[in-house]
Amino acid sequence: MKTKIIAVANQKGGVGKTTTAMNLGAALALKNKRVLLIDLDPQANLSEYLGYEPDGKPTMTQLIGQAAGMGKAPETVSGIRKHKAIEGMDYIPADINLANAETAMFSALSRETILKRILFPEAVSDYDYVIIDCLPSLGILMINALTAADELLIPVQPQKFSLDGLEALAALTAQIRATVNTTLGRITILPTMIERTNVCKAALNELSERYASELSSTVIHKSVEAAKSSETGAALCSNTKSKLGEEYKQLADEMIAAS
Ligand SMILES: Nc1ncnc2c1ncn2[C@@H]1O[C@H](COP(=O)(O)OP(=O)(O)O)[C@@H](O)[C@H]1O
Ligand SMILES: [Mg+2]
Repeated sequence: MKTKIIAVANQKGGVGKTTTAMNLGAALALKNKRVLLIDLDPQANLSEYLGYEPDGKPTMTQLIGQAAGMGKAPETVSGIRKHKAIEGMDYIPADINLANAETAMFSALSRETILKRILFPEAVSDYDYVIIDCLPSLGILMINALTAADELLIPVQPQKFSLDGLEALAALTAQIRATVNTTLGRITILPTMIERTNVCKAALNELSERYASELSSTVIHKSVEAAKSSETGAALCSNTKSKLGEEYKQLADEMIAAS
C-alpha cells in the first residue's frame, strides 16, 4: 500500500484535532496499519499526549528549519522519529520553537513544499499512514500540511458559526488544489463533541446539507473520556469499554475503506 498522508486541520482551536490525530492513529495501528504521527503545532499538545519528554534530540523544529535552508546536513524522518508504546505507531514531536521555524519558512524558496519535501515517499515508506496534527491557523505551517497531504480530515464541533470557518478552509483548500497540490484527494468532515442539544442538532443538519459528500458517517460524541485519555496518555481504543474508542475505530474503518 502506498503511504497515505492525512492532514487533520481546522483553523479553529479546541475542536478535537489533536484528540482525533492521536486516536485515529491508535485505531489504525490496532488494525495492523503502520502509522506515523506528526506534531505540527508549536503548542505540542500531541507530543504531550504521547508522553514526549524533551531529550535534546531533533524535533519537527529542526526538520523544518533544515529543510527551509537554515541548517546543514538534513535530518531524516527515520533519524528523529520516536516510538510510542502502541505497537505500530511512531511519532515526531514538536516544541515551542516550531513557531520560530515558521518565521524562517517565509524567506525559503518554495516555502509551501517544505513539509512535502521532508515527507518524500522513501522517507515515509515504512508507514501506511502519516497523520499530521495541524496548528489552529491558516498560516504557512498549515499550508505546508495541506500541500503535503493526500487527504484532509476536518474535525468540526457543530455550533453556531462553525460553518463560517469551514468556508475559509474550503477556499484555501481549493487554492492549494489549483496550485501546489493538484493531487489532494478526499476531504472528510468529522463532527466532534456531539451533544443532545438543539444547537448541535441544527448545526449538524446544516453541515449535512452543505457538505453532504464530505461528511463522515462516523460522529464523535462529547465525553469526559477524551480529557482522561490525554491526561493518562492511553489511547481511547486501548480501553475496550470506551465509547469514544469505538467511534474512533469506526472512523479508522471508514478511512481505510475510502483509500
Ligand atoms: N469528544 C470529546 N468530548 C469531550 N472533550 C473532548 C473531545 N475531544 C476532545 N476533547 C477535549 O477538548 C479539548 C480540545 O481538544 P483537542 O483535541 O486538543 O482540540 P484541538 O487540537 O482542535 O485544539 C481537550 O481538552 C480535549 O481533551
Ligand atoms: Mg491541537
